[in-house]
Amino acid sequence: MTTNTTKPRPKTDKPRSARRRFSNPVPMEGENGVFSQTWFPVALSTEVEKGKVVGCDFLDGRIIIFRGDNDKVAVMSAYCPHVGADLSVGTVVGDRIECAFHKWQFDQKGWCIQTGVGDPPPPTACLYEFPVVERYGIIWAFNGEEPLWELFDFEFDDSELSFSSFKTDTYTCDPWIFAANTPDVQHIKAVHGIRFNSDDPHEIVEWERYGFRMQVDAIHQKGEELSWNVGIRGTTTFIQEGLVNGWWMGVAAGFSCPRPGTHEVYVCIAVKRGDGSTEANKLSEERLAFGTELLARTAVEDKPILDRIHYNPGTLTKGDATLARWLDIVRAYPRAHPSKDFIN
Ligand code: FES
Ligand SMILES: [Fe+2]
Repeated sequence: MTTNTTKPRPKTDKPRSARRRFSNPVPMEGENGVFSQTWFPVALSTEVEKGKVVGCDFLDGRIIIFRGDNDKVAVMSAYCPHVGADLSVGTVVGDRIECAFHKWQFDQKGWCIQTGVGDPPPPTACLYEFPVVERYGIIWAFNGEEPLWELFDFEFDDSELSFSSFKTDTYTCDPWIFAANTPDVQHIKAVHGIRFNSDDPHEIVEWERYGFRMQVDAIHQKGEELSWNVGIRGTTTFIQEGLVNGWWMGVAAGFSCPRPGTHEVYVCIAVKRGDGSTEANKLSEERLAFGTELLARTAVEDKPILDRIHYNPGTLTKGDATLARWLDIVRAYPRAHPSKDFIN
């Protein structure tokens, strides 16, 4: 078990201002004009109905998300290449987005298919098309030419599960700082009141190229027994799956980036679907409501801290071993901004 040891302060004649302050900062989103090459959630599926377009801020610019008659979702740069109207005030026509200003139409790959007056579309008239997936009731866009990795899968097939998704208010810190909560084992105990059944999991963390998984067996604040496998991939995605009081629950979460230094938390709760009977459906609903309450409460506990944090890994200790290693992954994480000239 981890023990608290209090040692006397080192005696020194040096004034405090003369002591070296150890610090190994992590690059912030947008620093040097680049952002993490990771999957960012950009909208809940329910926010983008068939035939609808929505606009939102993303990274340091603006994007549109639209769903065509074919039910396919496209995530593109928002500004029309003609003279720059915001396409979020345009109209979805079939599987195309039509600009409100002069009626140019763009397909779901971002190419201008026709102009309003019949002039041939200039060959350079295109929008930036983000790699997109729709999963867990959430629309995700990848910041990068090609995805470097795939979203987490739960241990059960999606067809065996029921889902419920929501998003939080805006937090005023970078998304990776929220992600840093998961490897921050000490905060899990201190902020969320979770009591571990065994030693800290530092030794048994399974590291991946862009993240990790670890097993947590613990007791939650209200006495719930947890046996959860949790993980982070990239700088913006979280998974948790396993047993709570003996029944299976999954959580897939993502951290958006509407502007550098801000994020929202998109959360999907998953539970086993059951046999389709009224009782099984009722149980699934109850468990989804339980999971939603648990995760919303957890996110609220973090908010006042994260909204004001000046994140700067200075003096980490042995108890921060997993956090320290994960921060090294973030320091070296691939960053780019291929949509820069389109979304700004
Ligand atoms: S600005 Fe979009 S068609 Fe002219
Ligand atoms: Fe937390």
